[in-house]
Amino acid sequence: MEKELSKLEQLKASRNPLRVIDDIYKEANEGIPLSEDYIGLLKWYGMYPHINSENKEDKKYFMKRIKLVDASMNLEQLKVMGKIAKEYAQGLVDFTTRENVQFHYIQIKDLPTIFDLLKSVGLTSRMASGDGPRPIVTCPVSGVAADEIFDVSSLVKDIDSYFDKNEDDFSNFPRKYKMSVSGCSCHCCGHEIQDIAFTAFKRGDEVLFDLTLAGGLSKSKQIAYRANRYVKEEQVRDVAVAVAEIFRDNGNRYNRNKARVRHLVNEWGLEKFVDAIEEKLGYKLEEGLQEPEITPIQNRNHFGINKSKTEGESFVGFATIAGRIPGEDFVKFAEIIEKYDAKGIRLTTRQNFIVYGVKDEVVEDLANEFDSIGYAYKPNTFRARTQSCTGREFCKFGITETKTYANKLIKHLETKFPEFKEYVMISVSGCGNACSHPQVADIGLVGCKTRVDGERVDAYDVQLGGHLQGTNNSKIATSTKVKIPASEVPAFLEKLINDYEKDSLGTSSFKEYLTKVEIA
Ligand code: HEM
Ligand code: SF4
Repeated sequence: MEKELSKLEQLKASRNPLRVIDDIYKEANEGIPLSEDYIGLLKWYGMYPHINSENKEDKKYFMKRIKLVDASMNLEQLKVMGKIAKEYAQGLVDFTTRENVQFHYIQIKDLPTIFDLLKSVGLTSRMASGDGPRPIVTCPVSGVAADEIFDVSSLVKDIDSYFDKNEDDFSNFPRKYKMSVSGCSCHCCGHEIQDIAFTAFKRGDEVLFDLTLAGGLSKSKQIAYRANRYVKEEQVRDVAVAVAEIFRDNGNRYNRNKARVRHLVNEWGLEKFVDAIEEKLGYKLEEGLQEPEITPIQNRNHFGINKSKTEGESFVGFATIAGRIPGEDFVKFAEIIEKYDAKGIRLTTRQNFIVYGVKDEVVEDLANEFDSIGYAYKPNTFRARTQSCTGREFCKFGITETKTYANKLIKHLETKFPEFKEYVMISVSGCGNACSHPQVADIGLVGCKTRVDGERVDAYDVQLGGHLQGTNNSKIATSTKVKIPASEVPAFLEKLINDYEKDSLGTSSFKEYLTKVEIA
């Protein structure tokens, strides 16, 4: 018997999902309510309904993600984003792990104004989410860092605009398509967890990109495979498009849990998949058996004051508190940047940000001013590396609240261990979808429930020992199978650090210790 496509797939096939914008305008301008069926299509404009106190989708308010092509916002863009935060988002802004900005409390009635504001400064929310090419993750220091391998900003813009201009062909995929293009020397994009990634390296004077495929987190987590192909700069877009088309035309449209690029690659086998890419391209890519040297995750950072490649300029890396920025701070960012005549900010994949284009003579003052409003440029380890997902506050899948929880956790740990300098990445996720990367963190806390005295309470499933370092040395965290009530996690982490300080089990770092320690 022929399988039937889901309602969503039928809807996607019947009309370019991006046309939902017409229905948005109809509701906002003419009061004709958006059909219930179309709510799911709002994702194509980065929107997800909030949940209400009864845990049901609340169609009044939405989370809205704004795509930042090349991860950056210049001063004008920052000002407009600050205005949106203040006037339409109840002052709540998140910086995400894919270098985008996420607002909350957005209402459909305000969308025409928000769209106009975004457009006025060259920003958009088109394809910030939905089943198609998602915003491309890239190095926040492209064209800025003195030691970068290659400035990939124009490549990223070119690929993004190709997909955007050809929206009819690239807005109905079986599922999301996540990509990174990186040229920085510390590999901060996390190419190991992308559907497709191009990672620059040098062979003599020549720049090539190592092609990796089929990575991803969530329940069907998998570290990417090397395609054993090196890609030249002028081939990058063609390969990105070829893989997109193969995925679009062959990915699973009957089961969303098996619909990602990795499922198709696993089903076909890597060889057949790479053959299909080359067939589409009409030429062979260079065989590349050796993986370039990849920086381990603990050395991937851009904090502090750094020299830019532009003479007389620096850039400064700052930490947020688990990605949440109160709206008034967002407005202050723009004020400080204007005051010191800096160029703008760029987001990192760790929910942090850099300010770029800062004149050397004012860089310390600028850094200190950000520091004075709570964004450290020499952050302690807990602030620097704790990230959290959207969580139950707004997300329908959320089992636990995460942002405020992560904030309290960071403050607890930095108070208890002010001298603790070791690297540790902590990730708090509200459910197993793993949006904040718990599966590659040293300590992944994944929201669940447990019983205490017969009562169901918020808890965290503790996963330890995740790591990123290329296709061979990365590691998905191991679940300890221990569920700790949320209220007991701070004490649990305290004990973990105290135990390590007493006896490191022969390991040379806390990070390594977390791969050895057994939790009962
Ligand atoms: C089936 C449902 C979902 C799955 C499997 C899923 C999985 C993931 C994964 C694995 C990532 C990390 C990707 C990366 O950084 O490369 C991610 C990112 C993210 N997810 Fe989810 N997610 C789901 C639904 C949601 C929902 C409902 C929300 C919020 C209401 C959400 C919010 C986010 C955010 C903010 C990011 C950061 C990425 C960005 O800027 O695009 N996710 N998701
Ligand atoms: S991890 Fe779960 S709770 Fe957190 S944002 Fe993703 S889907 Fe929502």
